[in-house]
Amino acid sequence: MNAFSLSGRVAVVTGGNGGIGLGIARALASAGAAICIVGRNEQKNEVAREEIRNRFGVPVIAVRCDVTSEDDVHRAIEETHDKLGLVRILVNNAGINIRKQPEQLTREDWDAVLNTNLTAAMLFSQRVFSDMCQLGGGKIINIGSMASIFGLPFAAAYAASKGGIVQLTKSLAIAWAKHNIQVNCILPGWIVTELTNRAREEIPGLYERALARIPAGRWGEPDDLGGTALFLASDASNYVTGVSIPVDGGYSVA
Ligand SMILES: NC(=O)c1ccc[n+]([C@@H]2O[C@H](COP(=O)([O-])OP(=O)(O)OC[C@H]3O[C@@H](n4cnc5c(N)ncnc54)[C@H](OP(=O)(O)O)[C@@H]3O)[C@@H](O)[C@H]2O)c1
Repeated sequence: MNAFSLSGRVAVVTGGNGGIGLGIARALASAGAAICIVGRNEQKNEVAREEIRNRFGVPVIAVRCDVTSEDDVHRAIEETHDKLGLVRILVNNAGINIRKQPEQLTREDWDAVLNTNLTAAMLFSQRVFSDMCQLGGGKIINIGSMASIFGLPFAAAYAASKGGIVQLTKSLAIAWAKHNIQVNCILPGWIVTELTNRAREEIPGLYERALARIPAGRWGEPDDLGGTALFLASDASNYVTGVSIPVDGGYSVA
């Protein structure tokens, strides 16, 4: 038996229409999982859906959903049930950042970042809990950040949300271990995506400064997250729960 096979399992990937989420969706699909891509942008959803279907031949749907809306979250999971079945794997990846000095962050900024990066992960996890119980187990993979470890003077809300997701991971892991649900977190380092491309435009020299500190000598690509995500989504990690794994080319230990 292949401990890394996801054949016949249904995975929901929030923010799966681009960047890190798409990198993870590809890895899970390559192991045979049926995929539900969750995102707001319907054009990106459609392009990602086509790519996954054509490359991997697995069942795949894309659902337009704002993860900060409870109604949308419920609708996304209902559509997944109707078209793919009960959810065995959840990847809470959708995320945003708003870069400002803390004294300039508005209440709306704070709420937008916390609702997207942290509250949505809780809503989706609660929503799929009964699926995983019915299936006899499940896997939840949260996405943290280097900001789960380090403070960020220009992104206090983001860092708070990414610190919070590590503690949410530990708490769900302990609470749901008896249901054979493993909950873990990946902490990406500097990965080339739309999010960091915007940061590079806003902060001159960011790319070079980060690069100089990465022992691997390069920024990561979204597919660099695939192997760790596949491990955490598969039976290979059945005795691993509550941990946060940096995937950062050595950045956090340098
Ligand atoms: N890139 C890095 O270096 C890095 C490092 C550490 C952690 N991360 C984390 O990795 C995750 C993915 O980031 P990324 O770098 O891949 O950024 P990205 O390319 O900007 O992707 C963000 C994804 O989140 C989705 N999203 C954002 N708000 C949403 C909402 N309200 N409802 C539904 N979907 C929403 C976007 O979909 P739509 O465009 O359709 O809204 C998109 O698919 C985030 O949690 C981020 O914090 C990234």
